Amino acid sequence: CLVGSENFECAQKSPKILIKGGTVVNADHQQIADVYIEDGKIQIVAPDIKEMEGVRVIDATGKFVMPGGIDPHTHMEMPFMGEESCDDFFSGQEAALSGGTTMHIDFALPHNGDLAEGFRLWVQKAEKSCMDYGFHMAVTKWNDKVAQDMEWLVKEKGINSFKFFMAYKGSLMVSDEELLQGFKKCKELGAVPQVHAENGDAVAEGQARIFGLGITGPEGHPLSRPPVLEGEATGRAIKLAKFVNTPLYVVHVMSIDALDEVSRARHSGQRVIGEPVVSGLALNDSKLWDPDFRTAAMYVMSPPIRAVGHSQALQDALSTGILQLVGTDHCPFNSKQKALGKHDFRKIPNGVNGVEERMHIVWDVMVNSGKISVTDYVRITSTACAKIFNIYPQKGAVLPGSDADVIVLNPNAETKISAKTHHSRIDTNIYEGWGKVEVTISQGRVVWENEQLTVERGSGRYIPMKPFGYLFDGLDKVDATYMSSMQAPVNRNF
Ligand code: URP
Ligand code: ZN
Ligand code: ZN
Ligand code: ZN
Repeated sequence: CLVGSENFECAQKSPKILIKGGTVVNADHQQIADVYIEDGKIQIVAPDIKEMEGVRVIDATGKFVMPGGIDPHTHMEMPFMGEESCDDFFSGQEAALSGGTTMHIDFALPHNGDLAEGFRLWVQKAEKSCMDYGFHMAVTKWNDKVAQDMEWLVKEKGINSFKFFMAYKGSLMVSDEELLQGFKKCKELGAVPQVHAENGDAVAEGQARIFGLGITGPEGHPLSRPPVLEGEATGRAIKLAKFVNTPLYVVHVMSIDALDEVSRARHSGQRVIGEPVVSGLALNDSKLWDPDFRTAAMYVMSPPIRAVGHSQALQDALSTGILQLVGTDHCPFNSKQKALGKHDFRKIPNGVNGVEERMHIVWDVMVNSGKISVTDYVRITSTACAKIFNIYPQKGAVLPGSDADVIVLNPNAETKISAKTHHSRIDTNIYEGWGKVEVTISQGRVVWENEQLTVERGSGRYIPMKPFGYLFDGLDKVDATYMSSMQAPVNRNF
């Protein structure tokens, strides 16, 4: 084909791509350069690469060329609260790709407490994938089989993180004892423990209290699980992680209370990662009081979207490195599903959309506002995630040898984000606004351009993630110091 051809066949079958004239941005550096892609990999990053016959050219003059986004937190087709989240691995990934996210890490759930079964189920769900993905695995109880399965998943199945729910009493919640056993096993395996930090017992109490007051609508949701319960659980998990001397990853940090705990721990040198999500960074709880149930219910997620002030604090913490990366917690339920809780907020399936909007919203909230640099944008949307989950620089970088997951972002673009045009199957959208990602290249193929998606069902790949990422470096030395500081038993004569 000809240089500069728009020919789709060519782009798909002979994916040699030259992105010309853009500003190539990595987490540590930016430069004006061209990027040459072939065989699904980035081959060359250099100024003035010569255009050649058979190479598709994309003009990125005046635009940013960046690693595709990696969303560390999604729930595709997740059975939850009597429903199943309405995006599957295909529709959710279409949404992701059209918003510049080229990889996501989804939370696989155990099946009746069985991790191996749950993993197999998630493998099946993901067969329809059209982009790269990985899995975290949840742990919802503790016994020998769970410990064995964790080992199998880490050593043979490419899992290097496990999530523990401290909330959702009666379904996913674990006790402190189970948390402790899980943390110890994670540490031994070099896998990152993750927590959903809310005090589940107190949440159940708060729900009964608020419902008992006659508050049955969506506003009962934030009222029943206030920030103090998120702060308490975050602090508890952090202290247990310190006791075990394991790194810890706190998912969806939503409040100042939780943020303060993460901040304090990091100040003291503890290896704690804090992940805010887009909803927490960009929104406040006011819509939960909307008189229209359909509108209010779409904002119900846990921990709840907080009152004015919390999101600003989260943004500031993200800009100064107290928090490290941004997820979405994409777990969409459509209006019909949300209506299950029409007369009882406790029955509204918890979850919001975001996988399609994350890159745009983070750009607006963090870069357009002047809070962070463009290099930091790449770090918090892609590189930090790749490093934490040990897949850098295969992912998270525009470097020779990295996977060709690349986006072209136009800071001056105005593409509409709307429930009418988005790619997720959810029939509402908590973010209506403007988009900036003009081109998405996934596995070396142009999949999003001119607001058109070109994806192939089944082309997605599972990306195995190795244990003992950087968060574990040197922990053995700390353990050795601890052991040698223990004195020999006191010898007493009786
Ligand atoms: O409301 C939420 N966050 N739904 C998904 C499950 C979870 O807690 O991450
Ligand atoms: Zn051709
Ligand atoms: Zn959660
Ligand atoms: Zn989640």
